[in-house]
Amino acid sequence: MLLHHATWPEVDAYLARCKGIIIPIGSTEQHGPNGLVGTDSICPEVIATEAGTEAGILVGPTFNVGIAQHHLGFAGSMTLRPSTMIAALNDWIESLARHGFEQIFFFNGHGGNITTINAAFAEYYANYSLAGEPCPIQLMQRNWWELNGVMATCKKIFPVGEGMHATASEVSVTQYALPQAIKKVEMSPKIAPVGGFADAADYRERFPDGRIGSDPAQATPEAGAEIVSFAKQALIGEAREFFGMDLKTEAAE
Ligand code: NI
Repeated sequence: MLLHHATWPEVDAYLARCKGIIIPIGSTEQHGPNGLVGTDSICPEVIATEAGTEAGILVGPTFNVGIAQHHLGFAGSMTLRPSTMIAALNDWIESLARHGFEQIFFFNGHGGNITTINAAFAEYYANYSLAGEPCPIQLMQRNWWELNGVMATCKKIFPVGEGMHATASEVSVTQYALPQAIKKVEMSPKIAPVGGFADAADYRERFPDGRIGSDPAQATPEAGAEIVSFAKQALIGEAREFFGMDLKTEAAE
């Protein structure tokens, strides 16, 4: 069930049985010569949407522009400043909390977002900690590729050239989600270089076609289907556990 495809009475009815929601969160940034600019948003969105449909869990709109300053050397990439993202996430959290949501599961598709999402959580919790009041909601973030068993599945399908950015797995997931947008591109070199980076100019110089360590020409929609099907089950399990648990009761025991 998608929040943005539901009516408000339907959301009201959902809240009567569950106080949890999944928010896919990603990025709009280059993903190499054959990867879509929306890859990091499309991946968590398709996994969460399928999980939500199968398990009757509400899935909110995708927070689809994140921390991608280092990709701005490539056309189409967009970024938020960390301070902007922290402020925006707090407004999303407060809006949902106002309606009675008590567990918000940020399902992340972009490694560059992790520290800023944690900072946004600290900013939100600080409102309560400084006031000496208990926070009424629980926040969680989880990266899709770190769900139990997902990385092992990706490495099994792509033992060579999975890489770190514009990976064969994430491009496969987008090919499964959007088969009409599959691009056939020869990679040169076949496997991209690896290493660190600082700003956008530095990134472009070190990684001229945008990839890091990967050969995403191996990507297939069939591999994407296998990864999504595996990740979906893991997400359902984790979301059910998070939405069902009572932190206050556990802390009191
Ligand atoms: Ni990515």
